[in-house]
Amino acid sequence: MDILKRLAHYREEEEKLRWEGTFGEYLDLLKEKPWVAQSAHSRVYNMIKDAGVEEINGRKKYQFFSNQLFGLEEALEKLVEEYFHPSAKRLDVRKRVLLLMGPVSGGKSTLVTMLKRGLEAYTRTELGSIYAIKGCPMHEDPLHLIPNHLRNDFYEEYGIRIEGNLSPLNMLRLEEEYGGRIEDVMIHRIIFSEDRRVGIGTFSPSDPKSQDIADLTGSIDFSTIAEYGSESDPRAYRFDGELNKANRGLMEFQEMLKCDEKFLWHLLSLTQEGNFKAGRFALISADELIVAHTNETEYRSFIANKKNEALHSRIIVMPIPYNLKVTEEEKIYEKMIDESDVADVHIAPHTLKIAAMFSILTRLKEPKRGDIDLIKKMRLYDGENVEGFNSADITELKKEYQEEGMSGIDPRYVINRISSTIIRKEVSSINALDVLRSLKEGLDQHPSITSELKEKYLNFISLARKEYDEIAKKEVQKAFVYSYEESAKTLMDNYLDNVEAYCNKAKLRDPLTGEEINPDEKLMRSIEEQIGISENAKKAFREEILIRISAYARKGKRFDYNSHDRLREAIQKKLFADLKDVVKITTSTKTPDELQLKKINEVVARLIDEHGYNSTSANELLRYVGSLLNR
Ligand SMILES: Nc1ncnc2c1ncn2[C@@H]1O[C@H](COP(=O)(O)OP(=O)(O)O)[C@@H](O)[C@H]1O
Ligand SMILES: [Mg+2]
Repeated sequence: MDILKRLAHYREEEEKLRWEGTFGEYLDLLKEKPWVAQSAHSRVYNMIKDAGVEEINGRKKYQFFSNQLFGLEEALEKLVEEYFHPSAKRLDVRKRVLLLMGPVSGGKSTLVTMLKRGLEAYTRTELGSIYAIKGCPMHEDPLHLIPNHLRNDFYEEYGIRIEGNLSPLNMLRLEEEYGGRIEDVMIHRIIFSEDRRVGIGTFSPSDPKSQDIADLTGSIDFSTIAEYGSESDPRAYRFDGELNKANRGLMEFQEMLKCDEKFLWHLLSLTQEGNFKAGRFALISADELIVAHTNETEYRSFIANKKNEALHSRIIVMPIPYNLKVTEEEKIYEKMIDESDVADVHIAPHTLKIAAMFSILTRLKEPKRGDIDLIKKMRLYDGENVEGFNSADITELKKEYQEEGMSGIDPRYVINRISSTIIRKEVSSINALDVLRSLKEGLDQHPSITSELKEKYLNFISLARKEYDEIAKKEVQKAFVYSYEESAKTLMDNYLDNVEAYCNKAKLRDPLTGEEINPDEKLMRSIEEQIGISENAKKAFREEILIRISAYARKGKRFDYNSHDRLREAIQKKLFADLKDVVKITTSTKTPDELQLKKINEVVARLIDEHGYNSTSANELLRYVGSLLNR
């Protein structure tokens, strides 16, 4: 890669984006590309839509967000459908400030940043391109030049509605620089850039109680009053407030609810009437999306304050809860680790999954239905198959609580704990146990965790630990068998042959001698006992399996190892029980003999080659499972 060449190429690309012409020429361009005159809200919506929409089970997934925000599909769908889309259609919601409400580190800032960076990139594209009056500090919409009495005719001809009036500054410029000839006013294409303060702004109040409104709306430049003779001469005004600069695009308002309500009025009249008042000055029309964010506590106290009452109807609140899916949470951690300094550390398989389970458990609400526990709910939410439940149950569970995901452990906490584990352990590899330990220790330092909550969270840590124990055992046991799936399948086929013979009161044929033999009761029982099927219940269980097989056959489906959860579990357990002694002895012996050593090396190699471990984490896993099996 030649960086100088790339720079030159970049400059060329920039050059291609340039367009400058008179208002007359701009009107010609509008005939060809009417979309360049769209409103700020419409541009945002189209940006999101143009990135692609996927439909999964009747739910929309917006690709615009999907490479950086995980597990928020429902919230984002609501946000697009109830805010961005209707506001693009000039419906009333666009006249409200968008307030994202959600728990700390739940992705609100990330979402706003994506919109901002997205718009910067979008205005460089054909579909997102945008034009402004040249030399205007607010990059005013060129169509404001069209006088009110001609706007209906303009609509007839171009199909474009014009909102907002020419600003006092451009009114003056029109007279002085262009002698009133609107068609000569210079127009140019603009590219949004927060750094250059074009179309994107961030307002962060310095002192929310004594904030100067000029930071938002700009102010009179007293040094020039003498030159222009009057405070109300628009040339004596500096249009350098954040609202001015973000005109046509988006302004992020940080800590909005901490501001004084008098201060907020300015903003609200802007969203409501599309204009704001600055000093001793005519109203200034502006067109921009205002996004703020807050947490639930802050929002509740804002709502509870009588003084703010009139503001409520001018804000639209959109919840951004935590993600509630384990696999999506893992992706969040992966992303955050990739972005960090610890990206090259080896993280043993399942580590992030176990941490994610803990986080999700802290966010879920206890099911009201008696037939389901939190772990099962967690699995269902994650799209796993849980025997006895289906998608209707998920819908029902979701309905139990209006707002789930508004509290619990945040991703940043987990990442901080993972980082501190890495730093303390001073090795290049960490595993699930390290992380669970660190999560546990961190609870003492966590500022917002009461002792009652801590008790609950400790319980979640041990639940996550139990999940890990199961996963770890399975992983090792699987690695002990040359081909695990194959063995499981063979064992199951064998079991099914016997069950079939048993139910039909038939005999089996010995594959070696060809002799007729009775069903192998001992084998069947050894499997059934793994899942606690009693002598009395065995007949019913076997018949049920046969019924299941014929039901499958009727639908033309093959009954296989994964068709019956309980049977699979039994087969697995049986396989592991047979292996247990080998695994136990091999993994826990301090002085392995030659044969054991060979086996250990084989297993370690398989863990590394097929399961993503490195030699440290594979050996740690073996030692741990050895100790589990010896308990
Ligand atoms: N659902 C999510 N998907 C992807 N990343 C997330 C999600 N929730 C939180 N994060 C990550 O957590 C960190 C904190 O998020 P942030 O956007 O600052 O939260 P907030 O502004 O809500 O406090 C960021 O690194 C962000 O990328
Ligand atoms: Mg934030």
